[in-house]
Amino acid sequence: RPMFSQIPDSDLPSTVKTSFKITVVGVGNVGMACAQTCLTEDLVDELALVDIQADKLRGEMLDLQHAAAFLPRVKIVADCSYAVSAGSDICIVTAGARQREGETRLSLLDRNLSLFKSIIPELVRHSPDTILLIVSNPVDILTHLSWKLSGLPPNRVIGTGTNLDSSRLRFLIADKFDVNAHNIHGYMVGEHGDSSVPLWSSLTVANVPVLNLYDKNGVKYTKETLKEFHEAVVGSAYQVIKLKGYTSWAIGYSTASLVKSLLRDQRRIHPVSVRAKGFYGIEHDVYLSLPSQLGRAGVLGVANLPLEEDEMQELQQSAKAIWETQNKLHF
Ligand code: NAI
Ligand code: LAC
Repeated sequence: RPMFSQIPDSDLPSTVKTSFKITVVGVGNVGMACAQTCLTEDLVDELALVDIQADKLRGEMLDLQHAAAFLPRVKIVADCSYAVSAGSDICIVTAGARQREGETRLSLLDRNLSLFKSIIPELVRHSPDTILLIVSNPVDILTHLSWKLSGLPPNRVIGTGTNLDSSRLRFLIADKFDVNAHNIHGYMVGEHGDSSVPLWSSLTVANVPVLNLYDKNGVKYTKETLKEFHEAVVGSAYQVIKLKGYTSWAIGYSTASLVKSLLRDQRRIHPVSVRAKGFYGIEHDVYLSLPSQLGRAGVLGVANLPLEEDEMQELQQSAKAIWETQNKLHF
């Protein structure tokens, strides 16, 4: 007797379209952290892995497949050929060089530029309807480059941006006030890097503006006294890279939160790297992080927050810093 007997007159399709296919390019520290969080959060029905290191690629695929008894059913495939990525709903790109100790993200541009020129067209050729989610650094410039290389509309080319920096800031503020980071609402915007901008004027602790709060000595919080938190966020990656050689877990969770908002059409607001020209007085054609609503179509819109004059100026400075590096390229 067969293992299962079908109910008579059943109408069972021969194949079932898997609802969400995600491709991860680059199976290093970050790529595998992203893959693992997407699997753990049950965001994917088919996961495709791509890399240039064939053995590592197969090893990572097998190692994830072996978790089958602990995960929802998911098809996990891997190949050095981009054909394996065909029909992806989202392509997460983590391929490329990472910062050495003390190295800035912007300094990675030359090393990662050339490989993006080969990766992006291949992804779009096999998945013309995909959303590109860029992680590799310098993420803002590489996301702009990916948009140019892909020919996709800008709403479908997104960088993880300061979604991670904002979580780091919310962690530090939550720790200071001994509350849950989910009770800290606020954004860092601009470059995912040294010129990021904390929007203190709209950051709240349990819905109370942080600039209306007082510390235990009765001293009101100001942008000056809060500066240490911003400096700590900017130093975070350098600190972790110095200690463990790279960062991976936080970016893995950050990326999964974006994938969930996108694929599940959550319409949540995230500070992510978007085509920023024309928003907040930005005239340079750059990608940088702004609070953006994410859904199944990608970036549904950019939030128009009331920024204070100093915040506007810092955002302009951040756009200029990105532009000055980006402008050295010819693409
Ligand atoms: P890693 O060295 O562990 O992994 C990089 C992977 O890319 C390797 O497996 C390598 O074989 C692969 N690769 C290289 N060239 C390729 C190509 N042409 N096609 C496909 N795969 C290729 O590096 P790690 O730690 O995973 O970092 C990856 C990138 O992510 C770096 O640029 C790093 O700066 C960035 N990153 C970005 C963050 C963010 O918040 N945006 C946070 C953490 C890392
Ligand atoms: C970060 C760097 C690596 O972890 O982009 O923020």
